[in-house]
Amino acid sequence: MTVHFIGAGPGAPDLLTLRGRDLIAACPVCLYAGSLVPEAVLAHCPPGARIVNTAPMTLDEIMAEIADAHAKGQDVARLHSGDLSVWSAMGEQVRRLRELGIPVSVTPGVPSFAAAAAVLESELTLPGIAQSVILTRTPGRASAMPEGESLTAFAATGATLAVHLSIHNLAKVVADLTPHYGADCPVAIVWRASWPEQRIVRATLSTIAEAAADGPERTALILVGRVLAPSDFAESRLYAEGYDRRYRPGNSVE
Ligand SMILES: C[S@@+](CC[C@H](N)C(=O)[O-])C[C@H]1O[C@@H](n2cnc3c(N)ncnc32)[C@H](O)[C@@H]1O
Repeated sequence: MTVHFIGAGPGAPDLLTLRGRDLIAACPVCLYAGSLVPEAVLAHCPPGARIVNTAPMTLDEIMAEIADAHAKGQDVARLHSGDLSVWSAMGEQVRRLRELGIPVSVTPGVPSFAAAAAVLESELTLPGIAQSVILTRTPGRASAMPEGESLTAFAATGATLAVHLSIHNLAKVVADLTPHYGADCPVAIVWRASWPEQRIVRATLSTIAEAAADGPERTALILVGRVLAPSDFAESRLYAEGYDRRYRPGNSVE
């Protein structure tokens, strides 16, 4: 018996990996984080599967569900939105499962920042403009930020920022970032990327508050950086004529 953690992707049911789909289809029990995992993904569960929305449950209750499946020798598909490597609560579940000696597997999913970038048709790293992307958030009711991980500290790097879980805190995000990025720095907010109700607002740090004033207060990514509206940028060396690399050998190797 194994608990298969599966990244369910950002929302569109066809942004689930084939491995994730096949694992869901093979598990007689499916526990899903109902607030962001689309119901359509559950259509892959086998007939008669036990399907449980864990949104209203405590960690102890979730573990009790898994212990029950374990006692029956039934594999569990454990679905979380996006990818599991960020803000999924997988860590605490895996720790408990290891203590219980229950095996786990982890299947990645499309993270929401990648889905939002796709919706914007943007590359978040452009030569000479930004070569790093910082996935971060602002403090929440239940989650303080570790010391040193402030928005202003990240802003000092000039990297492209993907600010999660913070749309309700937009005024503070703008206030913290403006001194570093400049009031004219492009910002894009994508609500529910890849869902039917997806919405996009593009503006600058000085205009985003007004532009996004009537947007929902949940499930949005705030992307900040000059890569979002580059006036000009160099082409990468990757496809440059005369630049030799492993697949076009000549002088140098990458
Ligand atoms: C609990 S975190 C889950 C993150 C997820 N594990 C991932 O890989 O993106 C929820 C936050 O992710 C962002 N998010 C998740 N899905 C989104 C989507 N479809 N569109 C925009 N933002 C999304 C929002 O910032 C939301 O508040």
